[in-house]
Amino acid sequence: MWRRGSMGMLMWQLLSLVVAASCVIVASGLGQGQRVTSVYDFPDGRGFRADLEVIEHTELYGADVNELSMTVRVEGQFRVRVQITDRNTDRWEVPRSLVPRNEPKNSNRLGLPQEALIKLTYTTNPFGFAVTRIANNEVLFNSTPSVRTSLEGVESPSFNSMVFKDQYLEISTHLPGSATLFGLGESTRPDGLPLVKGKTYTLWATDIGAMNVNTDLYGAYPYYIDVRAGGLTHGVLLLNSNGMDIKYGGDFLTWHVIGGTFDFYFFAGPTPLDVLDQYTELVGRPAPMPYWSFGFHQCRWGYKNVSELKYVVESFKKAQIPLDTMWNDIDYMENYLDFTADAVNYPEDQLKSFVEDLHANGQHYVMILDPGISMAYENYSTFQRGLEQDIFLKDDDDKNFLAQVWPGPVYFPDFLNPKGKEWWTNEVSMFHEKVPFDGLWIDMNEVSNFCNGSQCKFNGVIYPNHNECYLECKKPGSQWDEPPYKIVRQGAYENIGDKTIAMTVRHFDGTMEYNAHNLYGLSESVATNDALRITRNKRPFILARSTFVGSGAQTAHWTGDNAATFKDLEYSIASMLNTGMVGLPMVGADICGFADDTTEELCNRWMQLGAFYPFSRNHNTFGATPQEPYVWEQVAASSRAALGLRYRLLPHLYSLMFEAHNRGAPIARPLFFAFPEDAETLTVSKQFMLGSGVMITPVTLPKVTTVNGYFPKGTWYNLFNNFATKVESKGEYVDLDAPLDSINVHLHEGTILPMQESRLTSTEVMKTPFTLVVAFSASKPAGYARGKLFIDNGDDVEMVIRKGRSTFVRFVGQQSEQRGVLSSKVVSGDYAAKEKLFIQTVIILGANGAPTALRINGELVDSSSVTSSYDSATPSIKISGLNLSVGSEFELQWTTKSSHSTV
Ligand code: NOJ
Repeated sequence: MWRRGSMGMLMWQLLSLVVAASCVIVASGLGQGQRVTSVYDFPDGRGFRADLEVIEHTELYGADVNELSMTVRVEGQFRVRVQITDRNTDRWEVPRSLVPRNEPKNSNRLGLPQEALIKLTYTTNPFGFAVTRIANNEVLFNSTPSVRTSLEGVESPSFNSMVFKDQYLEISTHLPGSATLFGLGESTRPDGLPLVKGKTYTLWATDIGAMNVNTDLYGAYPYYIDVRAGGLTHGVLLLNSNGMDIKYGGDFLTWHVIGGTFDFYFFAGPTPLDVLDQYTELVGRPAPMPYWSFGFHQCRWGYKNVSELKYVVESFKKAQIPLDTMWNDIDYMENYLDFTADAVNYPEDQLKSFVEDLHANGQHYVMILDPGISMAYENYSTFQRGLEQDIFLKDDDDKNFLAQVWPGPVYFPDFLNPKGKEWWTNEVSMFHEKVPFDGLWIDMNEVSNFCNGSQCKFNGVIYPNHNECYLECKKPGSQWDEPPYKIVRQGAYENIGDKTIAMTVRHFDGTMEYNAHNLYGLSESVATNDALRITRNKRPFILARSTFVGSGAQTAHWTGDNAATFKDLEYSIASMLNTGMVGLPMVGADICGFADDTTEELCNRWMQLGAFYPFSRNHNTFGATPQEPYVWEQVAASSRAALGLRYRLLPHLYSLMFEAHNRGAPIARPLFFAFPEDAETLTVSKQFMLGSGVMITPVTLPKVTTVNGYFPKGTWYNLFNNFATKVESKGEYVDLDAPLDSINVHLHEGTILPMQESRLTSTEVMKTPFTLVVAFSASKPAGYARGKLFIDNGDDVEMVIRKGRSTFVRFVGQQSEQRGVLSSKVVSGDYAAKEKLFIQTVIILGANGAPTALRINGELVDSSSVTSSYDSATPSIKISGLNLSVGSEFELQWTTKSSHSTV
């Protein structure tokens, strides 16, 4: 009935059948799982296929799919794919045009022969499979039910056997007590970053505001990472776009999925950064974001006209607060129609010249687009062209599916349809000729619909309250709109079709909304990324609300409609970090709060925190009190200081973008990414790192002027007060001063941080001289530090190391008792040379003593132009007046003696 796979390179073997036999006590109403009937090895020795059949048929949630197949492939050293599906009939799978499944590069960084880090084993009757880390034999995933015995001696199964029906799939894994899990978004998590025992995580893209906690929101990420003892980490992706509930029981995790296949990918890690590298290699590396998008963004719903936009931009300048990008919400549109501008308040010529002025000042402009295309105006040419091209989604009568959003009755474009993508590109390009926007904000793409029902009718009248459904709609009633298993919906949204389109809606190729719903935002993101690239021939910037696994390869993301409360401020940190962990590193929350009126104190604290979100944008809802940072003196001062530091850190943020684009590393990371072996970091949800050396400890509470934060072991230098203070930690919680005008930002020993000078736009920052901050351990006499820098023009479509177009530099610092050296290794230095970029200042933190002599590339430096000073309190050395070309390798040496003040 079965045969063992050949050994050697093979990664699987059978588990004991004795263990399996004891599981037949399962009685859940969902059967006893499946048995393996045959196994076929692939000739390349990298996988096998097994046939499975159902042991006992049950009717709950529909009939079982009797004949299944499991395909196992070892894909390189770090990942294993396990797909279980109907053996005889094709089932829905996430299209490769949206999530690519790139082949692994098969490279072992050490260049050693490839040995997989994880292996797969399985039981035959009943069937179950396990994934084990080979190095320590730890089981990472195990779907075979076992028996639990209660104190009273009652035996019960740990969870159900696997179930596979047309509209209901269930599978579970055991989890040991040492597992800490992260992911399975998108939701707002009041309990912090790690998953919480007893909670159900529902994945169904829905227009529910981020202010609602513990419920599924706009995006869906069927992916988690699991950190075990000592920081060993692996990742698990179920590449499935159907609705699902995932229940976390502490010692098990169960998926309840309403369609598709079990298509699991296991990523071996073993570090959190390795997992992100392996996962984004599969689903697409994060898209590079333009340099300017790391500047500060101002937005609101309710800017009345072009004059108000001008006023805002002027006010930032007057208050000397940096502003890179001005945004428009739906206010600019004529009757909320995409690709139109309101003739009275936003005349095209005025808008165009406003954007041209921004460009002349080195600033940028982003505008919103919603997917709903009004069908109510005959002379609306975007709509007419859409009709001609026949690119709208269809109802179950094959008519264009009618829905309702801001403009009233709308049809939704089908972005899976190649013709739909072409039409969208054309509309974007034509509009760009009228208003030369730099980026696009794609909202409402869950897709959000104010009416429910499968077939709606429009009576020709647009009612003013667009937010209430006024279409006449046939109630849904199909097996797709009301599937046998109901995923957990919040409050009013009982059915999966509520507040979105009917599940029977069809795409051009017959794909049903039931299957593709969670992918609408991603499909629009792919289309918009293409459209922008074609239109501008520059690096696209897109902000998307509804996202899926792989969206990071197309867009940035914001966490959606939060509220102006301190709780929302706090939760934004976990939301941002969770987004970064699914390969969407460019992320932020609406600073100062979207819904409700903010307060001076809240906005002050939120501007300080938001200054360190990768994507930093203040955004406010219609009718709420203005909250631009210049509105209050205190907030303006705090924003100048916090954004001032952000702008000095732009080279660091941008180099992190390069790392994200190459290896999937989040820009804002949980502490455990840098300190995985420190178990205390796993639960830190109110602090974060930018890269592996800069830590932000924001105030998240009202009426306080101190903050308590966790500091992993080592010396942490305060960046905000220019290293006037530091924390020496054994790995402990520390109370810090946090007066209203300050935020705690610390630099960890061992880091070399490239910084530039603060200006009012990133365009200006780019031209300023560099400072390198070299942080050595203050507690040890010997030290080591390293850092990286990537620079290019910030707007090329590609972000790559390329001769003449970009420069990449690695810095290394070493310090012993009497001397120190800082050197650079440059790849493709001609770009930095051409741009005349140079390092003017070097700050050495944790210095061993005052410098006595300085040499550059072996030559003694002339102390009349290069000066150095020593501060024994930090202790630090500051070397000023340097002229080290970023594009040329250098070695800067200093000798020290224990106490002195200048050379
Ligand atoms: C919903 C978005 O989440 C919000 O940011 C935006 O302001 C409104 N739609 C209006 O476009």
